[in-house]
Amino acid sequence: MELREAALALLRANRRHTLDGHQYTVPSPRTYPYQWLWDSCFHAIVLAELEPEAAKAEIRSLLMRQFDDGMIPHMVFWNPLITRPYNIGWGKKGTSSITQPPMIAYAAWEIYKKTGDEAFLREIFESLHAFHKHLIEHRDPRDNHLISIINPDESGEDNSPRFDEPMKLKENISFFGHMYERWKLVAANRVCNFDVEICTRNHFWVKDVPFNSILIKNLEIFAHIASLLGEKEAETYSLLHARLIKEAMREHLLEDGVFWSGTGEDHELLKVDTWAHFAPLFAGLYTPEEAKAVVEKHFHNPDTFHSPFGIRTVSKQEPSYRPKGFWRGPIWFAPQWFIYKGLKSYGFQEEAEWMRDTTLALVTRNGFREYFNPETGRGYGAKKFTWGTLVLDMMDI
Ligand code: GLC
Repeated sequence: MELREAALALLRANRRHTLDGHQYTVPSPRTYPYQWLWDSCFHAIVLAELEPEAAKAEIRSLLMRQFDDGMIPHMVFWNPLITRPYNIGWGKKGTSSITQPPMIAYAAWEIYKKTGDEAFLREIFESLHAFHKHLIEHRDPRDNHLISIINPDESGEDNSPRFDEPMKLKENISFFGHMYERWKLVAANRVCNFDVEICTRNHFWVKDVPFNSILIKNLEIFAHIASLLGEKEAETYSLLHARLIKEAMREHLLEDGVFWSGTGEDHELLKVDTWAHFAPLFAGLYTPEEAKAVVEKHFHNPDTFHSPFGIRTVSKQEPSYRPKGFWRGPIWFAPQWFIYKGLKSYGFQEEAEWMRDTTLALVTRNGFREYFNPETGRGYGAKKFTWGTLVLDMMDI
């Protein structure tokens, strides 16, 4: 079957309908049978080309469970009978109480580019603005323009070793041991009612590089949307905050030529080499000279990130590196896609093509698996996992 047909077949097979007429796509029928925030954005980006009405429906359903304060939860369970450690007693209307990287404006703009449907942008405009405002106003308790995450799960990279230090965990922590610690953190944050100002005094507090990079890019795209809709104030607000976060990241998180996530009040740098060094390419945070150095020193280095099958999510030199360890080293499609987009925007054509080719090869050889061993190319984790469909967006379909 052609890749395009295979991708559409997978997205359709994973589509679910709610009793009140909404639809969404599960990332994997067995392993991930709910709706996830950034996954839905990835689905919408691919569906924008394949089936634009389904792409709109995916975004609409995601916004249905937005909290009154603007936050959009990272998981929506839809089935009211389901309780998970993320939501027991504290999820609102069957959702988790934490968020995930804000990729919605990006996805909405892709839909607009393919359909020209301005009414759709108008329909979701206030929700998106409220979500961004929530992150800017409630996730920056000391007003220093770095947006905080309060659980590693909010980064989408659940057990990344970037978070070992603020989680007070050792490099050999097991997959389930880590999961248990993250659930305990949700419970602890419940006690402070998820009030970031208070919770961050005692618990996990990270200004994460990919999360902030993704927010900057999405604020810039949202400013385009606002401009198109004649929403001057929202446009100015979004551009202003994109710039402020960018400046703060450069001031506080840039050292030795790369960006590092920071923790606590003083943004103490978490010096673990992960693909987070490449994420700022997606938001244009490096100067062209800096980007060139990052590509030469880190992207091309086989001893750290560059594996025969794609870019490792954690450098091979890190003591925490585990080639089969979920977010502790394996290749994942979303980082591949973000890095591809970043490289392309800086004009690193050859490198971008390599990202596309390695991604394509992983899908072709292994099918739609969740993550891959950088040393052997073998696929692991969830099956019928949707992120592999992103490869279509890397081929300028
Ligand atoms: C895993 C991933 C996370 C994703 C979720 C659903 O938890 O780490 O990024 O959103 O699965 O696919």
